[in-house]
Amino acid sequence: MPLRLRFLPGLLLLPGLFRFSAAIYTPIREYSGTDFFSEWDYYGFIDNTTWGNVTYVDQSTGTSQGLTFIDSSTGHAIIRVDNTTNIPAAQTVNRNSVKITSKDAYPIGSLIIIDVSHIPYGCSVWPSFWMLGTNILWPLGGEIDIIEAINNLNSNQYALHTTPGCYLAPNSSQTGNTIETDCSTGQGCLVQETKPNSFGSGFAQAGGGVFATQLDVSGIYMWFWARSNIPASISQADSASTMNLTDWGTPTAAYLSTACNISQYFQPQQLVLDITLCGVWAGVPSIYNSTGCSGQCIDNVIGTGNPIYNDAYWDIAYIRTYLATTTTTDTTGNSSAPSSSSLASSTSSSPSPSSSGNGNSGSGQAANANTAAQTGVWCFPWPTVSGALLGLVIFTFLW
Ligand SMILES: *[C@@H]1O[C@H](CO)[C@@H](O)[C@H](O)[C@H]1NC(C)=O
Ligand SMILES: *[C@@H]1O[C@H](CO)[C@@H](O)[C@H](O)[C@H]1NC(C)=O
Ligand SMILES: *[C@@H]1O[C@H](CO)[C@@H](O)[C@H](O)[C@H]1NC(C)=O
Ligand SMILES: *[C@@H]1O[C@H](CO)[C@@H](O)[C@H](O)[C@H]1NC(C)=O
Ligand SMILES: *[C@@H]1O[C@H](CO)[C@@H](O)[C@H](O)[C@H]1NC(C)=O
Ligand SMILES: *[C@@H]1O[C@H](CO)[C@@H](O)[C@H](O)[C@H]1NC(C)=O
Ligand SMILES: *[C@@H]1O[C@H](CO)[C@@H](O)[C@H](O)[C@H]1NC(C)=O
Ligand SMILES: *[C@@H]1O[C@H](CO)[C@@H](O)[C@H](O)[C@H]1NC(C)=O
Repeated sequence: MPLRLRFLPGLLLLPGLFRFSAAIYTPIREYSGTDFFSEWDYYGFIDNTTWGNVTYVDQSTGTSQGLTFIDSSTGHAIIRVDNTTNIPAAQTVNRNSVKITSKDAYPIGSLIIIDVSHIPYGCSVWPSFWMLGTNILWPLGGEIDIIEAINNLNSNQYALHTTPGCYLAPNSSQTGNTIETDCSTGQGCLVQETKPNSFGSGFAQAGGGVFATQLDVSGIYMWFWARSNIPASISQADSASTMNLTDWGTPTAAYLSTACNISQYFQPQQLVLDITLCGVWAGVPSIYNSTGCSGQCIDNVIGTGNPIYNDAYWDIAYIRTYLATTTTTDTTGNSSAPSSSSLASSTSSSPSPSSSGNGNSGSGQAANANTAAQTGVWCFPWPTVSGALLGLVIFTFLW
């Protein structure tokens, strides 16, 4: 099947020329409602990466066992651990759960916003919403952990995983607590959320919230807001709205390119949602114990699965993805409307860097002027349930 590279001249990313809050983001895709599960691949194996005691089901099993479905009253996507099957003690114990990976991959220049009402929690439970560089040996393509914690922890953690040479800059402006600065270590360059109710029962009782990740040449930035503090730019947006980060405030985690060459360490990223049980983090006896859980981790997996896994589910209102769009907003604050390219109409046979935004004199970011990423979109048919739907794999390259 020949690949046709389709460029979107309007979606030109020149982040080095802009304050990171000044870019305007054009919506690319919304994962929500009845279409939510059509844009992901189900793992369909045991957990052979984090070694939890789960079998990640295929799509038909997930659907028939009610592990992935759309809640008819809210329209939200539910992704859960099996809490109905009685599993006897045995040499090998695996409970059914879910790991799904987006068909699309998102390049530098992307923005990802997830609105979640409930994140899986409880002893032995290890949920994650993360991004992974495509088709390349881990961690060569980079990994971005957006939502991840275990057991009875009540704060979310953010991390990058890379090959050696990428660090969290000591002078980065962020609200989170830095736990580790070296992104090549086992735990990655790790930042802990300091805002309340970012994980666990507190998160669920506060009505959940929103997490956002900006993948930019100038850095990778992550934000969290509990339900009551979501900025108007997000709470008033619909799936067609452009996104303006002006009212987002300081991110929780800010991985600046001064200490990590983002273009070098991060390939286009697929989204991943999963829930494992025990495994190489939640199930390590000392960690299991120090995160508020008693007994043996595996003893949760054995048995009926309820009530222990009644809270082991994701409830997701939407995931929205965006790409930075050319504007003439510059570091002096001047701006004009972004060019209004659309995915359907702005086909071009060759890359055509827009001239707008090139007036970078005085931006003080000359280094980035040479590494501005141009963003294009690979477009080809995916084998989907509904057939002829076009999938998008977003592709980036450097000048
Ligand atoms: C996990 O198992 C599947 C199926 O056997 C295999 O295709 C895949 O390469 C394995 N992944 C790892 C990281 O071992
Ligand atoms: C739990 O999973 C790990 C990793 O696959 C495995 O080594 C261990 O034997 C499992 N425990 C049981 C009781 O199945
Ligand atoms: C952080 O330090 C680096 C290296 O000294 C410097 O290039 C960069 O401008 C500083 N960034 C901020 C936000 O202070
Ligand atoms: C983004 O929002 C801010 C605050 O409302 C506004 O001042 C600014 O002009 C907006 N930027 C663009 C490019 O629309
Ligand atoms: C960052 O990495 C890119 C891609 O490998 C490279 O072209 C660029 O020169 C690097 N920038 C710096 C400042 O090292
Ligand atoms: C953790 O282990 C210590 C020492 O064995 C024990 O006293 C404590 O109760 C354990 N914590 C939990 C939550 O079970
Ligand atoms: C499984 O958990 C859900 C809540 O997530 C609950 O409604 C259901 O009753 C539980 N199933 C059993 C058998 O307890
Ligand atoms: C920004 O706008 C002001 C007022 O219109 C103008 O005087 C100034 O030259 C503009 N700056 C740039 C860099 O375009």
